[in-house]
Amino acid sequence: MVPTELAVSNCRQLVTLAGPARARTGAEMRELAIVDDGAMLIREGRIVRTGPRADIERALSPDAEVVDAGGRIVLPGFVDAHTHPVFAGTRADEYEMRAEGVTYAEIAAKGGGIRSTVRRTRAASEADLLAAARRYQEWFLRAGTTTIEAKSGYGLSVEAELKILRTIRQLAREGRARYVPTFLGAHEVPDEYRGRIDAYVDLVIHEMLPLVAGDRLAEYCDVFCEPNVFPVPQARAVLNAAKALGLGIRIHADQFTGGPAVQLAAEMGAATADHLEATGQEGFDALRAANVQPVLLPASVYNLGLNRYPDARRMIATGLPVVLATDFNPGSSPTASMPMVLSLACTQMKMAPAEAIVSATVNAAYSLRRGADIGSLEPGKLADFAIHDCDDYRELPYFFGRETARAVYVGGVCVYQGR
Ligand code: NIG
Ligand code: FE
Repeated sequence: MVPTELAVSNCRQLVTLAGPARARTGAEMRELAIVDDGAMLIREGRIVRTGPRADIERALSPDAEVVDAGGRIVLPGFVDAHTHPVFAGTRADEYEMRAEGVTYAEIAAKGGGIRSTVRRTRAASEADLLAAARRYQEWFLRAGTTTIEAKSGYGLSVEAELKILRTIRQLAREGRARYVPTFLGAHEVPDEYRGRIDAYVDLVIHEMLPLVAGDRLAEYCDVFCEPNVFPVPQARAVLNAAKALGLGIRIHADQFTGGPAVQLAAEMGAATADHLEATGQEGFDALRAANVQPVLLPASVYNLGLNRYPDARRMIATGLPVVLATDFNPGSSPTASMPMVLSLACTQMKMAPAEAIVSATVNAAYSLRRGADIGSLEPGKLADFAIHDCDDYRELPYFFGRETARAVYVGGVCVYQGR
């Protein structure tokens, strides 16, 4: 039940991120618009007012429900703009192999990697996939994430891709978190199409995409664009078809090989180019000129045991509205924790804690065309927020490896309560 009037009070820091109604760049990325000893008034699931506690408490109606934040900090819910949360099984076996020195690419070349998750996901029932995805959803919520961009991509057949997208739709309907669905049929070439990439691309374009768009099962289309997975011509064909059907574009670009995928993102006017571990200044300039937002996924670099993190400092200097996301998936990045990503952003990419928070909230929301509704705590927006057990927002990345969220709200409804 959505309480008619709700107030969140006794916030040591109410981190509002109030500011211009667009993604933030440059010095704006350090402006969190914090209200010390603040409070927030919510009616019917939307924020009505934020301000000093005394002012808000004076404006309360007698039957308002008051949540005492206990002198902790309150932040907008994290917006995780890049995840793969629907899959069967794990890849703990490959994780062990990687610890012994086998690389991600070697595992993939032997039929492991994405394709091993595809085999398990195809064999799983829709009910089992939903049960697994609900379990992972709890991990997102307990980390303070309220919106999840969710990609398909572990089906790679018409039926299995639709099964995954229906699972995402069901999660969205349940309403514990918000979901933005993305079709990633071009995540890998499945076993039965090995050596026949163009035949698989035809299947994606002529069979999968029309069904996905016809049933409104996705808002975006993504492609894993790498020379040895989907090279630029094939990626362009899929993305052009998606665009013609009204889908927005996101691209896995420059994860391992720098250059062409980023140029494709610019050429296509993609909403985002994601990964960018191998991208340099020329690519950043192209993204800037084409208004493409970079989505950085440092947890996948960390978990693959690599050391080439995307160059966030140069991106910010170039004026790019950087986004941070978990890339939650069973292979390269099995974490749903945005606080962990904030830690990596600060220590490995030298982002300021404030820049990391902007990247994980308001900038992420704009990258998903949700900026008018979520990503900051401002009048008119949805009351998606988390109470974190910290005295200062910088403690979020500083005390790393601990989940700090004590209560998480979506549309003014408590969806997670911790201890
Ligand atoms: O974003 N790069 C492709 N996709 C995922 C990895 C998926 C997997 O290993 O299962 C990524 O890192
Ligand atoms: Fe990914």
